[in-house]
Amino acid sequence: MKLATVYGSPTPPGKMARALGLVERHVRQAHPGWTAERVAPREAVGPVAASWDDDAVRRIGEADAVVLASPVYRGSFTGTLKLLIDMLPNEALRSKPVGVLTVAAAPQHFLSAERHLRDVLGWFGALTAPNSAFLVDSELRTDDVAATVRADLSAFAEQVVTLAENLNGRQFGPDPLTVRYAKKAAG
Ligand SMILES: Cc1cc2nc3c(=O)[nH]c(=O)nc-3n(C[C@H](O)[C@H](O)[C@H](O)COP(=O)(O)O)c2cc1C
Repeated sequence: MKLATVYGSPTPPGKMARALGLVERHVRQAHPGWTAERVAPREAVGPVAASWDDDAVRRIGEADAVVLASPVYRGSFTGTLKLLIDMLPNEALRSKPVGVLTVAAAPQHFLSAERHLRDVLGWFGALTAPNSAFLVDSELRTDDVAATVRADLSAFAEQVVTLAENLNGRQFGPDPLTVRYAKKAAG
């Protein structure tokens, strides 16, 4: 089975990439039947945004489970990640297990990007995993990441894998709003 981990940051792999790497490593080591491949932006568009190509959309659509990772920017997830989300068709995430991983400088911002992502994932009818991962960037400054943080990231990854394995591609209704409107418009 396939896990797509989405690097929703415009900057070159930074502290958040360290956390995402630990999620990917857990999946590869604990679940040999799984692949864990990172989907990253194609190129920078100025200092705070980056663009994606169609291959990113394809890989997310083909994945059995997805982790969306974003640093907190201005109290929310990045515009870079929103650019990718706006390229995804509804079926790319519908009924699909999606874990949310966010990183911020301030611990007070722990629910900010997560909450906004959960709203957006509702548009897709995604199966948003109940427990998100949030880390303060100082915890990821070096490769010497605390054992407690590693354990949390492993549990986070385990949750997404378990959801995907047990649901096995099952689809849930009712249709998300966008699907309902499209069906109505088609008569
Ligand atoms: C444009 C921008 C806006 C940011 N806004 C916030 C914010 O609102 N709250 C916060 O706690 N951290 C904020 N940060 C800090 C980042 O979330 C934090 O440094 C994170 O680790 C960056 O991820 P990276 O190290 O993988 O690049 C901001 C950083 C940038 C560049």
